[in-house]
Formats: sequence, C-alpha cells, structure tokens
Amino acid sequence: MGACIASVAGYYPHGPRNFAADKLAAMQFRKLGASGISVSEISLGSWLTYSGGVARERARACVEAAFDAGINFIDTANVYGRGAAESLLGEVLAAHQRSSYVLATKLYFPMSQSDRGLSAAQVHKQIDASLARLRTDYVDLYQCHRYDEQTPLEETMGALTEVVQAGKARHIGFSEWPLEKIEASLAIPGAARWVSSQPQYSMLWRAPERGLIELCERVQISQIVWSPLAQGVLTGKYRLGEPPPSDSRAASESMGGFIDRLMAPRVLEGVERLRAVAEQADLTMPQLALAWVLRQANVASAIVGASRPEQVHANASASAIELSPEVLRAIDEALEGVVAG
Ligand SMILES: NC(=O)c1ccc[n+]([C@@H]2O[C@H](COP(=O)([O-])OP(=O)(O)OC[C@H]3O[C@@H](n4cnc5c(N)ncnc54)[C@H](OP(=O)(O)O)[C@@H]3O)[C@@H](O)[C@H]2O)c1
Repeated sequence: MGACIASVAGYYPHGPRNFAADKLAAMQFRKLGASGISVSEISLGSWLTYSGGVARERARACVEAAFDAGINFIDTANVYGRGAAESLLGEVLAAHQRSSYVLATKLYFPMSQSDRGLSAAQVHKQIDASLARLRTDYVDLYQCHRYDEQTPLEETMGALTEVVQAGKARHIGFSEWPLEKIEASLAIPGAARWVSSQPQYSMLWRAPERGLIELCERVQISQIVWSPLAQGVLTGKYRLGEPPPSDSRAASESMGGFIDRLMAPRVLEGVERLRAVAEQADLTMPQLALAWVLRQANVASAIVGASRPEQVHANASASAIELSPEVLRAIDEALEGVVAG
C-alpha cells in the first residue's frame, strides 16, 4: 500500500487528488475464461488515445503508470491509427519482460482498400503484421473486432485455430459478435475455444446483460469490457450547460468524434445524480463506474482508456471495491430512463 501511494505521489507534486488515497488497495486479478491467464481487474486500452490522440511521451508515461499501478493487461487493435497504437505499444513494451504483461490485439476493420475482414488470408496476414509492430513473437489474445458476414465462419475459425497452433496467439476472443454466431462457432469441431468477449459495457450501456453474459458464463468465456467510463462521461467531468473541459476527449478534435451520443442532456442529468451516490459511498466517480462493471463475476477486466498517467492510477484504485446492494439500487434510481443499449 505504501509503495503504491508513493508511486502515485510521483505524478502529483502536491499529493494525490481526484481519488481517495485511503482506498488504494493492491490490484486484484481474475482468470480469463478457461485459460490459465490472470488479468488485472483494470486494464489499459489504446483506441483513440495511443493511436495519435495523446502525445507520444504522455502515452509512454501512461503505459509505465499502468505497470506501476499493477495493471498487467493491455488491449489494442491493428486498426487503431492503422497500426500506430500497436507501434507505440511495441516501442514502449520492448523495455519490459514479455512475460510481465498480457497483450491483446484485434483484426477485422479495414487496414487498406483491400485488407479487411476475417478471411483466412487476412487472419494470417494481419497477425504477422501486428506481431511485427508489437515487436513480439506472440499475443496472449487475438480478437475478432466484429463478425464478418462476408467470410464463412468455418474459414475464420480454421485460420484462428492455425494461428494458435503456430504459437502466434495463446488464445482467441471476439468483440460484439451476434449471439447466434457465437453459438455457431462453439459447435465447430476442432476449433480453438474462445476465452474472451469484448463488449461495450457501462452503467449507461447494459446490452451484454441481455443474453451475452449468460451464454458466456455457460461456456467459460470472460467479458473484458470497453468504454466502462462511457469515454469519460461517467467521471462527471462533463456538466450540463457548461463547455467540456479544454483538455477532455469531448473538446479534442482528434478524439471527440464518438462521444456526442453520451453527452445528451438527459445522460448528463443522470450522471449528475450519480455524483451524490458516489459521495455517499465515499468513492470517486471513476471508482463507482468501474466497480459497477466489476460487480459481475463474468467480467474479468474493465478496459479503460487514459490520456494522462494520473488517470491510470485513479482508475486502478477501483480494483477490489465492492458496491453494496443499497449503492447498486441508488445507481439504478439515479439512472432511471437514461440507460441505453
Ligand atoms: N472492441 C471494441 O470495439 C472497442 C471499442 C472502443 C474501445 N475499445 C477498447 O476499450 C478501451 C477503452 O475505451 P474508451 O477509451 O473509449 O473509453 P473509457 O475507458 O470509458 O474512457 C476513456 C477516456 O476517459 C477519460 N478518463 C479516463 N480515466 C479518467 C479519470 N480517472 N478521470 C477523468 N477522465 C478519465 C480519458 O479521456 P480525456 O482525459 O481525454 O477526457 C480517457 O481517454 C479502448 O482504449 C480500447 O482498447 C474497444
């Protein structure tokens, strides 16, 4: 605990802010599906941030802060900045022992006019390109970013299985696949087994509760969830009637393109009501939001983006926090009529 606070203080010349220092606990880990891999409850994503939105040295400081905070799980994708996020991570991670972190990447979205989807040729081409950018021989998790309607499922599963057999990926996962396609993939004989599902999940977006979590629990697939802070909205930084803070995602030309839907007045009103819930529970807003997704045993990790190192520490401090039934009820009341998805 002492060491953890000392390392946080390094980023805060005037002492820790924006999270309860007395709530810092050691990072907890959860098993990733039926694999032997344990991932930190809080992980570090790299979508809009390390694909170019955040300056290189700051991005590097965020990744180093993740290691300091006990985070061992890093998520990226080939399409984030068309290779830029993977290249940045490859450069920074080269200074760390390969066995000290769990690395996940993805394929599916276009890398060029002709390179896209989940055909066997693309699976083999994209894994090799990702490994080269990431400067490693293997990823721990290779994920299909979406389902590919243009490729037979058997072809995709066959190619992913070959990638695992070749030792280029230890395990496979999917992101936002339709339930019936997940079921169909499970029935393909000899195919590598999924260990993870990567859905959007937050207090504001609860779609995975409608069948996905139930299915995955049944077959030992874990959720590793994206945008658990609703791109920052659930931190309470955006206030109704006020311009977004100048250093925030919503104010950023390069990173603000996907946040509008989450900035609707009724959403911000709901988030305002959550402020009192967090205060009552003696938690920060990020802690409340992250502990909420982690209340689900099927969620192995909350993948959080961060534009500065202190955010990484603030978010890591949500590990091991348990929300009482009263707090969970108060969250639902505060967000009544606001939840989407
Ligand atoms: N599978 C998929 O299709 C998919 C889709 C989207 C994302 N993802 C993955 O999930 C990761 C996370 O998603 P995300 O970045 O969209 O959403 P998020 O984690 O909900 O939000 C991250 C943003 O919130 C702000 N923030 C984070 N911690 C904060 C704190 N403690 N206090 C105040 N502000 C804080 C930062 O933005 P500012 O400081 O700039 O305001 C940060 O970039 C991605 O990086 C990616 O790896 C996957």
